[in-house]
Amino acid sequence: ELKWKLMNREEVSQVRGVVLQKSTCEYWNKIWDFQAKPDDVLISSYPKAGTTWLQEIVDMIQNDGDIEKTRRAPTDIRMPFLERINPPYVGLDKANEMPSPRVLKTHLPVQLLPPSFWKENCKVSIIYVARNIKDNIVSFFHFQRMNKGLPDPGSWEEYFETFLEGKGLWGSWYDHVKGWWEAKDIYPILYLFYEDIKKHPRREIEKVMEFLGKNLDEKVLDKIVYYTSFNVMKNNPMSNYTLSSLMNQSVSPFMRKGVIGDWKNYFTVAQNERCNEDYREKMDDTTLSFSMEY
Ligand code: A3P
Repeated sequence: ELKWKLMNREEVSQVRGVVLQKSTCEYWNKIWDFQAKPDDVLISSYPKAGTTWLQEIVDMIQNDGDIEKTRRAPTDIRMPFLERINPPYVGLDKANEMPSPRVLKTHLPVQLLPPSFWKENCKVSIIYVARNIKDNIVSFFHFQRMNKGLPDPGSWEEYFETFLEGKGLWGSWYDHVKGWWEAKDIYPILYLFYEDIKKHPRREIEKVMEFLGKNLDEKVLDKIVYYTSFNVMKNNPMSNYTLSSLMNQSVSPFMRKGVIGDWKNYFTVAQNERCNEDYREKMDDTTLSFSMEY
């Protein structure tokens, strides 16, 4: 069994050019060797794209809308975070000791996903959620301010540049969303967008349900839409991370705003132009597109 490590919050390192927490890099060989099982469900995303939201949706679907069951433990305990070597647990140990069927979470870019997930006989159901770059940067900035397990983000100006250059944690947003987008043509991956779930929660929840091979009646679906809405999740201690000692929610709450377009409150005109230009250049080679406003 591995021991978790509380590293200095500044400490990061790299795996194949991707910036990750140093603790993750130190255990990289073990993470790379992780053994997936065919009945695993993997929830994958760039950080702050709506991971927790999707986790709640998946858990409610799997438990047929039973809130007693989904409130059995906090999100990060219910669904191990694969590359997490921070307290209170080592993701790998948690995943290995968990009975199947397991639901796992990762933020790894597609090229760093442990190869056992792709094995031919391994029919892991993978659900990816992506969020538009502008809201993603803002949300990540606030998250790094309040999460003691991650480096201090510095000023908004610095953070913005580091992010666009792909030098932030979990690497380039562009590579992440594009890499997983390409992978979905080869592997059975359900690729979702934060903005779609926000605008059409019921429709998107039904997609997840079908992907997971479940069939729930209308009443249960209504219930899931309600219990996975922002305000309900914000007030639920099992989904709002208030039980996490790593997060200082007086700096910024985990369930912060939960909207599309908050970037407008942070981006200067110059930053918006810079981002648009960078975006045009780096998204030139993909069919992937995002909506940045409601
Ligand atoms: P904001 O910081 O913009 O509010 P992740 O789970 O990947 O860390 O993503 C967190 C982001 O998703 C936060 O965004 C959080 O508020 C938002 N979020 C979580 N649950 C949500 C929900 N039910 N509805 C809308 N947004 C949600």
